[in-house]
Amino acid sequence: MHKTPHAMIYGTGRSVPEKVLTNADLEQIVDTTDRWIMARTGIRERRIVEPGTPLSDLASAAAREALDNAGVAAEEIDLIILGSVTGDMKFPATACIIQDKIGAKNAVAFDLSAACSGFLYSLQVASAMMAAAGYRRILVIGAEILTSMVNWQDRDTCVLFGDGAGAVVLGPSVDNRGIIHSCLGSDGSCANLLFNPGCGSVNPPTPENAAAKLHTINMAGKEVFRHAVTAMTNAMQQVLQEAGIAPEQLNLLIPHQANLRIIEAVAKRFHVPAEKVYVNVDRLGNTSSASIPIAIDEARRAGKIAPGDLVGMVTFGAGLTWASSVIRF
Ligand code: ACO
Repeated sequence: MHKTPHAMIYGTGRSVPEKVLTNADLEQIVDTTDRWIMARTGIRERRIVEPGTPLSDLASAAAREALDNAGVAAEEIDLIILGSVTGDMKFPATACIIQDKIGAKNAVAFDLSAACSGFLYSLQVASAMMAAAGYRRILVIGAEILTSMVNWQDRDTCVLFGDGAGAVVLGPSVDNRGIIHSCLGSDGSCANLLFNPGCGSVNPPTPENAAAKLHTINMAGKEVFRHAVTAMTNAMQQVLQEAGIAPEQLNLLIPHQANLRIIEAVAKRFHVPAEKVYVNVDRLGNTSSASIPIAIDEARRAGKIAPGDLVGMVTFGAGLTWASSVIRF
């Protein structure tokens, strides 16, 4: 292993809404069945916020838990990066609102948009800013209220998504622990496979655009599925190869929780046995940028990640974007 980590994870936290939306509930809303959703996605239920809940509330709760877990005071945080596509408003950056809510008054704060890759993109940016610009206590958050842009009449998409937030506190690496290596990728030529056309300058929120539901998620599911498996497999291969790590050295693999079939395809490609693959998509659905930090926190608190463990992470999202990372905890 020839990579020297700059940043390591000092603490983690998460927040998911209390309200559970089951497949049986969805059967009452659209023409679908629990059987279809389970067979095609592995999702049994997801958590959803009450309409109008600010993302910054969910994200701040996860951030406070991560600070507490790290034993770091909010005033010590010098940088906050939020990976999200469902911030409170177009501007200001939701990271600034979180900064105020948690009292991190000495931090620089900004949002990063990379859809489901938002957390791993943010982690890499944070690590690079620690190495190059001297930031020493960084809050990286992945948080999403995707149900705010779901079309509840579109059975192709409304069964997939859930809400949640996860956060980590980064500090300087100790004993060679931390983010060993990360790989990021993008392909804008496939932007039209997964997009939300109605919230920006192209289709401003006029009554006509709202009536046409342009503010909801558009997805070419089959195409996205195909790209997801290829991109995640390649990203995993690249990060392991460049870090000089064999798949069997990983104590845990945390793939983005979009669909159980995608997770299983990636795990199979690297011969990672099921007990080393973290799965919560059955309980939480696809929480986009929140899926990996929520999984990290759940796994740590359940004793599935111990100090010194080697954990691989890989994700894929709209953009298209993808990212992978190997971390020594
Ligand atoms: N319930 C019942 N039937 C449904 C449903 C539903 N909820 N949704 C679609 N169907 C029907 C379709 O209409 C189709 O019917 P037809 O054969 O009569 O035309 C049939 O089921 C098969 O549909 P497909 O789209 O071919 O089903 P597929 O096996 O591709 O599964 C799915 C669909 C689950 C969406 C899959 O393509 C997928 O997971 N894609 C990736 C999605 C994803 O991960 N997106 C997030 C990316 S991350 C981010 O950035 C947000």
